[in-house]
Amino acid sequence: MPSSRQRKTFDLVIAANRLPVDKVTTETGQTEWRRSPGGLVTAMESVMQSQPGAWVGWPGDDEEAPEPFEQDGVYLVPIQLTSEEVRHYYEGFSNDTLWPIFHDVIVPASFHREWWSAYQRVNQRFAEAVAEVAAPGARVWVQDYQLQLVPAAIRRLRPDVRVGWFNHIPFPPVELFAQLPWRSQLLEGLLGADFLGFQRVADAQNFVRSCRRFLPVDTKGGTVSLKDGSGRRVRAGAVPISIDFKGLEALARTPAVEARAKEIRASLGDPEILMLGVDRLDYTKGIRHRLKAYEELLADGRLGPPETTLVQVATPSRERVDAYRQLREDVEQTVGRINGEQGQIGAPAVHYLHHSYPREEMAALFRAADVMLVTPLRDGMNLVAKEYVTCRYDLGGALVLSEFTGAWHELHQTFSCNPHDIEGLKQTILRAINTPEAQKRRIMRSLRRRVSDHDVQRWAARFLDALEVAPARGEDAS
Ligand code: ADP
Ligand code: F6P
Repeated sequence: MPSSRQRKTFDLVIAANRLPVDKVTTETGQTEWRRSPGGLVTAMESVMQSQPGAWVGWPGDDEEAPEPFEQDGVYLVPIQLTSEEVRHYYEGFSNDTLWPIFHDVIVPASFHREWWSAYQRVNQRFAEAVAEVAAPGARVWVQDYQLQLVPAAIRRLRPDVRVGWFNHIPFPPVELFAQLPWRSQLLEGLLGADFLGFQRVADAQNFVRSCRRFLPVDTKGGTVSLKDGSGRRVRAGAVPISIDFKGLEALARTPAVEARAKEIRASLGDPEILMLGVDRLDYTKGIRHRLKAYEELLADGRLGPPETTLVQVATPSRERVDAYRQLREDVEQTVGRINGEQGQIGAPAVHYLHHSYPREEMAALFRAADVMLVTPLRDGMNLVAKEYVTCRYDLGGALVLSEFTGAWHELHQTFSCNPHDIEGLKQTILRAINTPEAQKRRIMRSLRRRVSDHDVQRWAARFLDALEVAPARGEDAS
């Protein structure tokens, strides 16, 4: 709907399901803006700090959206969702249909036509808001699986802009993507972009294979040529995301964070081995598998409090979706059982924290942990793994990392695990504890080199360069 308001326009516009901040109404009725959860915000926040631009996104509730406003140099454009749209577009289609399909169907996906209608409606609303704030010839950077119809919708409204899309999560193999009743429409939505970025080469290949299978297109390598008379070619490629290495390392080096790391260890009774898990409470993260391996190590007498303890930070996430509710129940029951059976007075075996924390506290936790457990069953990247090594400028600590994360493709020199193999996971945890310090330092040095050379600034530059050189309309079409 055209607006009577005169909006500012920008040469760079980000569209993401969430704004970088969530609107929260406190108990006293005050409105507060709090940092939104997840890796997308962590990465894009630091990208937007270095260049002017607008960010179109949902403020995280179902109330009337506030007018656009500026925060930390970024022009935020809130998109309103009704409570039904939150249920159907966000919790439903995005997180109960697409999320399971894009993560190996770890839990079954649900298909509902009214969810699909809401997804179409909300994607169109995002595209209209983008069209309003994009300057002539602007670069528009659409984010993630919640907005797969936005690229084509923007192209219809504003054929003058360059459109890129980046998928923060995996792209499924064609056999799983095939289950989606709306598979062709989703692909057509994405093909409105000039460049499509994925975490891994395999994700880009999966996308191209799906195009070949379900649409009348030609494909060659990472290029999809449309046969709709437009002569357009769309490029798909791998551009793995990262973190702000310099900024986070500087934070980790501050005396306050160092002091807090010591304080955390002291308040846990100065254990010999402090293990840490930090995840959104999501079934993709392999938290149940991690706890099972740890519980068995305790039961076998290989590990035990007070010498060893595990801190599991589990950020609340998508709490009204059944699979997430079930996961929370399972995790909390397991933690209770482990502590009941293996804990001691003053020395629980697991410290379970269901909260969000400031960045300083996260850095202090990473500084404090001897072993970081990152055990997803499937994860597009996993920025926590990269954050941990970034904070370990002392070369201390050890990272246990699942082969099923995007991060593993860059950090596979580390202590790798297959979380489905509980016996193997137990052995890997013990190896991460018992490997000689000198060897662990060598591993940590090489992990850090990789993250430092491939930070989020480089990721953004690579993505925007690829968008720049992707073929324009009709160009080099054969
Ligand atoms: P995802 O995007 O699936 O949540 P990532 O590992 O890629 O997973 O990113 C998670 C981001 O959220 C990281 O930057 C991490 O530090 C942050 N984070 C995770 N848990 C918390 C928490 N409890 N409090 C604050 N930040 C958190
Ligand atoms: O990358 C996956 C993702 O859905 C991101 O879009 C977001 O950063 C994160 O997970 C958190 O999810 P939600 O926005 O549903 O809380």
